Amino acid sequence: MKKKKREVSGSVHHLLLRAKLFHRCRLHGPITGLLPLISAVSGCLLLLFALLSLLSPSPSSGHGRRHVSLLRHHSSLSSGRLRDELEAESISSPRAVFHIPSSGGSLSRDLWSSRLSSFFHGCSNASSRFLTADQKTQPNRYLLIATSGGLNQQRTGITDAVAAAYILNATLVVPKLDRKSFWKDASNFNDIFDVDWFISFLSKDVEIIKQLPEKGGKAWTPHTMRVPRKCTPKCYQTRVLPVLNKKHAVQLGKFDYRLSNRLEKDLQKLRCRVNYHALKFTDSIRDMGKTLVERMRSKSNHFIALHLRFEPDMLAFSGCYYGGGEREREELGAIRKRWKTLHKSNPEKERRHGRCPLTPEEVGLMLRALGFGSDVHLYVASGEVYGGEETLAPLKALFPNFHTKETIATKAELVPFSLYSSRMAALDFIVCDESSVFVTNNNGNMARILAGRRRYFGHKPTIRPNAKKLYKLFMNRTSMTWEEFTSRVRTHQIGFMGDPNEVRPGRGEFHENPSACICESPEAKDMVPHREIPGVEQEDNNSQNSTAELTTEDDQGLSDTEDIENGNNDAAVRRQSNSLQSETLKSEQPELEEIFSD
Ligand SMILES: *[C@@H]1O[C@H](CO)[C@@H](O)[C@H](O)[C@H]1NC(C)=O
Ligand SMILES: *[C@@H]1O[C@H](CO)[C@@H](O)[C@H](O)[C@H]1NC(C)=O
Ligand SMILES: *[C@@H]1O[C@H](CO)[C@@H](O)[C@H](O)[C@H]1NC(C)=O
Ligand SMILES: *[C@@H]1O[C@H](CO)[C@@H](O)[C@H](O)[C@H]1NC(C)=O
Ligand SMILES: *[C@@H]1O[C@H](CO)[C@@H](O)[C@H](O)[C@H]1NC(C)=O
Repeated sequence: MKKKKREVSGSVHHLLLRAKLFHRCRLHGPITGLLPLISAVSGCLLLLFALLSLLSPSPSSGHGRRHVSLLRHHSSLSSGRLRDELEAESISSPRAVFHIPSSGGSLSRDLWSSRLSSFFHGCSNASSRFLTADQKTQPNRYLLIATSGGLNQQRTGITDAVAAAYILNATLVVPKLDRKSFWKDASNFNDIFDVDWFISFLSKDVEIIKQLPEKGGKAWTPHTMRVPRKCTPKCYQTRVLPVLNKKHAVQLGKFDYRLSNRLEKDLQKLRCRVNYHALKFTDSIRDMGKTLVERMRSKSNHFIALHLRFEPDMLAFSGCYYGGGEREREELGAIRKRWKTLHKSNPEKERRHGRCPLTPEEVGLMLRALGFGSDVHLYVASGEVYGGEETLAPLKALFPNFHTKETIATKAELVPFSLYSSRMAALDFIVCDESSVFVTNNNGNMARILAGRRRYFGHKPTIRPNAKKLYKLFMNRTSMTWEEFTSRVRTHQIGFMGDPNEVRPGRGEFHENPSACICESPEAKDMVPHREIPGVEQEDNNSQNSTAELTTEDDQGLSDTEDIENGNNDAAVRRQSNSLQSETLKSEQPELEEIFSD
């Protein structure tokens, strides 16, 4: 129903645009005095374009639609820019400044692997000093937690819960999943994860049970409380331990990012054992995920997985502008009104700070600039995309081999999953994890967790847009040649590609940079340059020292707004922008943000 309407309005718009184009063209010639040549060229282009759209059977069929969408997308741009883009899309002419090639061009590096990754491997075994569960678990000390947010934010909570139980010498009850978040999924832990594997894999570290035992023959209701964000081990000992000793069963609510980022090395390694080994999806999810991966691999040797977040609510909340003109301002503005506490949006500022997710088209341009040609197969993991097919069209034009769960699996195959957002998210997680190259347009929880996971499992290339730098390029793209654009994109993306050592140890969030769990082969010392990321200030030498990691948190500013969706993964910058935000955001804001946390 909705789709139909969009198609109709699309074709009306199409006609309007054509009229507008001719109008602009006539005006443009004499005013700029750019001589008949240019008028002739653009005239020809327009004719060609009109012809193309007449030739295509209907505006809703694939090809015709694509052109409509491209035009539509740029309807707000200047006519000069529009003409350039048209040239880029239809035929190349000698004066095309921004001609997007269909091949990725020549490259000095292999696109499908990270440099020097063979010198690094994940290492998360406990040291001999690390006490085992049977040496330290206190009887009658039960810790329960209720997670919060989408599947991946919940994953960080589960990981931290095991470490918290270890710190408190408590028995952990299998975590409760959040059923009320934005994603509304009633699944239990054992619908998503293999619970027996979870318990047995961690049995040496923490005793885990499925249910709180009864007390005096009756169900036992735990005492509920919350701990502050980024609570340190000491904070657990002073705040939770006394309550635990008194009540014997304590449930920590809204358990997301409630454990400090920095911990001693053995506790970090415990986090890695949980996150990368103990948390395994159920067999049915794993089997379907494997099927999807195999289908992608059967299409070509390598494939890119894109995690695209572009839901209307999320975009509205971001306060950014995505190039859709007045219609977008109205539509997103209307959604935005739902949240009374949001202050007035400042799209320019959001972009400048790199907090806006890239549009599908921008992702496509970035990938092409990084060297991926139009023959590459792209798997896109996304929820509802604002603007639907229209928004996706420019990306599909750049990468015609465009796949999703729904296109590579049948409806019947997806039935056990499709009504459960977390199970669907788990399937995407698997395909993204197994992809040759993973790319995101956002900096949400899934992007960060997968970035960390892919480092741990061999530094598989993971492209996270340097949004703060890229946005200027995207805005100015028609004032430079494609070659210039390409070279600048490649420069800006240094340090954002998932290479070893591109982020300093201890930098950023542990889940995205699990440096304590990444070991370097001895022969690497001479081979591997330890590069500094431009613009990121140096950290002192001690960060490699496990005991130094115990130092107090220096990133308190992160605490309350860290899970905001920003398009920027430069930890230092994020830190800064988040502390900026926490000054301006009202106190209830963090809870609001969590509804979108993926
Ligand atoms: C880590 O522990 C596992 C299981 O105990 C063992 O198989 C493996 O060899 C250990 N790795 C190292 C590097 O010690
Ligand atoms: C946990 O147990 C160990 C070993 O018995 C002990 O050293 C430590 O103080 C205990 N910590 C807590 C919080 O009970
Ligand atoms: C982009 O264009 C604007 C206006 O033309 C200019 O002020 C700005 O410096 C340009 N930025 C870049 C990165 O070229
Ligand atoms: C790091 O350590 C090296 C050698 O131990 C020293 O030369 C250097 O100044 C130190 N850098 C910082 C930032 O402390
Ligand atoms: C690491 O910490 C230990 C214990 O505090 C200390 O003896 C050692 O000198 C530290 N190493 C470095 C490189 O700072």
